[in-house]
Amino acid sequence: MLRADPEQILSQPALRQVALAHGEQVYQAQCASCHGANGTGDPVLGVPDLTAARHLYGEGRVAEVEEITRHGIRSADKRGFSLASMPAYGTPRPYKNEPLPSLTPGQIEDLTQYVLAFSGRGTDPAAAK
Ligand code: HEC
Repeated sequence: MLRADPEQILSQPALRQVALAHGEQVYQAQCASCHGANGTGDPVLGVPDLTAARHLYGEGRVAEVEEITRHGIRSADKRGFSLASMPAYGTPRPYKNEPLPSLTPGQIEDLTQYVLAFSGRGTDPAAAK
């Protein structure tokens, strides 16, 4: 197992069996409370679906999942993923890293319509415009 190319383990039946048996125990004990027993995540808690074809961070390669598991995301670990944070535009100081303007409640409503219109779900075209 240690000498195998991590990207190839799942395609080799003997290694796959060992990896999945050990991984399942650790996953159910450490990860399932947030990501769900089958990895489907929880949109209410903002926990991503690990079964999705598209990933928030990287492309779901073995090395990427290992790095995220080792160092976390915005976890205070310097090697963790923390490239992106979403500013709080409804507050007087939206972002601590650089000066950004606040938005008014009306701007946030119009902006929401504009963003929903990307996927055809807007309900107020005048606001989106
Ligand atoms: C306390 C809740 C919690 C636990 C426990 C947890 N995660 Fe996560 N995980 C999250 C959240 C929330 C995110 C998304 C963070 C973000 O977008 O900033 C995430 C993101 C991820 C991602 C990135 C997914 C993507 O789409 O790129 C992977 C991979 C991941 N977790 C694996 C694991 C593994 C493996 C474990 C167990 C060792 C685990 N997580 C335990 C909450 C958790």
